[in-house]
Amino acid sequence: DHNKLALPVGTTLDRFIMRKQEDFPYATGELSQLLRDIALAAKIVNREINRSGLIDIAGAYGNRNVQGEDQQKLDVIANIRFIRALRNGGEVCTIISEEDDDIIQTGNNQGKYVVAIDPLDGSSNIDVNVSIGTIFSIYRRISPTGREGGSADCLQPGTHQVAAGYVIYGSSTMLVYTTGNGVNGFTYEPSLGEFFLSHPNIQTPKTGTVYSINEGSSDSFSPGVVAFVQQCKTEKFSARYIGSLVADFHRNLLKGGIYIYPATAKTPGGKLRLMYECNPLAFIVEQAGGKSSNGQQRTLEIEPQTCHERCPLFIGSKELVEQAEALLAQEK
Ligand code: AHG
Ligand code: MN
Ligand code: MN
Ligand code: MN
Repeated sequence: DHNKLALPVGTTLDRFIMRKQEDFPYATGELSQLLRDIALAAKIVNREINRSGLIDIAGAYGNRNVQGEDQQKLDVIANIRFIRALRNGGEVCTIISEEDDDIIQTGNNQGKYVVAIDPLDGSSNIDVNVSIGTIFSIYRRISPTGREGGSADCLQPGTHQVAAGYVIYGSSTMLVYTTGNGVNGFTYEPSLGEFFLSHPNIQTPKTGTVYSINEGSSDSFSPGVVAFVQQCKTEKFSARYIGSLVADFHRNLLKGGIYIYPATAKTPGGKLRLMYECNPLAFIVEQAGGKSSNGQQRTLEIEPQTCHERCPLFIGSKELVEQAEALLAQEK
């Protein structure tokens, strides 16, 4: 059936979305439209990022977000662009954003979908020209249409995602996403303003020799994490840590490896946010044959309690995640 039909590399995102639309009976085109809205915002944000040194949008915005972080101007700009695109697209009723304390009502009360988004991931890297990203997660609303979405619509476990993806604004800009039928990567051609299928049906290597963790916090790693990092060194792994989750994740997805953000003294519950960092990447990595957990529990099965809750993240090649989990299980 057409699912198995490997669309030729070079297919545009629009054509790919149309051809794949039959995959989900639920949507009569709304999810397709939603994905197009996200792609549009990504093109706009990409252009702003590429000019950020030239127009006055580098640096701090002068405000702290609910995370206690100093918002960068591009954090705020990306947030505005994605929320506006989702509002104008009409398919999304409610949004969770890293940059907004409370859930955002778009006014599209007939919208069937809820989105959780990290509009700009890797903010500390914006002004130093290092790859950054956007991460998004899409859920079907639970409450009936005709009114605003509520917390029950927003705080669904990762297993309920209908789609998830990320944009990486790197040496090239890519959109990588899944709707539950495999993972596909699209590369942006700015001169045409189009995303083209460049990485069809991404499968992540079952193991790897790269580990990504901020060893600056190693004094407060748990014994199992210390043991796993030591094992990586004994096996002569390469340490690669960019400081942008999307960039570290994307490299490991394609080449194999593991990314860990464990509980530390500074971040006792981990640093990364469940709804718009861990869950979307966990959906993608599982669709690509990899694994994601908080060290004990499958990320996608964590029952969310609040919008911005954090959880430890062990994500990447299946065998490496399982080795880390085994060492954590042996902790005294
Ligand atoms: P964000 O910029 O969206 O707040 O996310 C930053 C995250 C993630 O991108 C990155 O891997 C991690 O923070 C880096 O944290 P440390 O600087 O503590 O290592
Ligand atoms: Mn982030
Ligand atoms: Mn962010
Ligand atoms: Mn942030």
